[in-house]
Amino acid sequence: MSDAEKKDSKIPEDNHIYRLASLGQHMLEVDHEIQNSLAIINSNCAILKKVVNVGSYSFDLIAEQVKSIKSATDRISRVSKSLKSLSRDSSVSDLDHFTLSEVIEDIMGLLSLKIKNRCIDFSLLGDQSVLDESLYSSRSLLSQVIVNLFSNAFDAIELQLNPLIKLQVWNDEYAIYLSLEDNGPGVPLDMRERVFEPFFTTKKVGAGTGIGLNISRKIMSALGGDIYLDSKISSKFVIKILRHSGVIKE
Ligand SMILES: Nc1ncnc2c1ncn2[C@@H]1O[C@H](COP(=O)(O)OP(=O)(O)O)[C@@H](O)[C@H]1O
Ligand SMILES: [Mg+2]
Repeated sequence: MSDAEKKDSKIPEDNHIYRLASLGQHMLEVDHEIQNSLAIINSNCAILKKVVNVGSYSFDLIAEQVKSIKSATDRISRVSKSLKSLSRDSSVSDLDHFTLSEVIEDIMGLLSLKIKNRCIDFSLLGDQSVLDESLYSSRSLLSQVIVNLFSNAFDAIELQLNPLIKLQVWNDEYAIYLSLEDNGPGVPLDMRERVFEPFFTTKKVGAGTGIGLNISRKIMSALGGDIYLDSKISSKFVIKILRHSGVIKE
């Protein structure tokens, strides 16, 4: 990161607006998931009402309908939890103890819908012990950075016949690392650093704001970590997360 970037690494005050706007990109899937789950619950209720009215029912049939209602309500609750945790306003001073597992669970309630609907081959690689390591950082800002990476990956693989996204975690003595790689075209060599500049976008007018990676870099820098493009794979972004984030005062 250049000195000029370091000096300008405060998270913008209107990040909350950006965060909500980027959440908005996933609303169609969220609505779809809720409507689907409600339709399942409705149909289960109709079956239960009918068999009770007729007076002929088996224990197995009732157990099956109740199980289906429970899994539909669980899905709605997962999506709602995800929306709540991702829309929470937060600053770098909202530090807390949590694990990467919890962060990934927060965001999957929202993103697994898109992964499923677009038939994306998604894999989570790395040791469970890294996912379970205790972190002291900002859970909601880290979630935001990871959701941003997913949004970019979704855009990058839009035209792929066999879209693929790989999330990988590892650690060393200094930090925990998380990378997101897709099988899209990658970032061209001459744009490697420019993608982190404010308002740099290659997307159509209205499709991209060009501030996702810039805000992500400011967030990671404020938390004492980093975000960068892998030196070998041009579609692999890496975030470095300090186990214990100190808030950098400007
Ligand atoms: N996974 C990716 N694959 C290829 N290019 C990417 C990827 N992620 C980001 N980029 C490039 O970086 C640019 C900036 O990304 P970002 O700051 O998130 O803004 P936006 O997504 O609004 O364009 C994108 O327009 C795109 O050119
Ligand atoms: Mg983006």
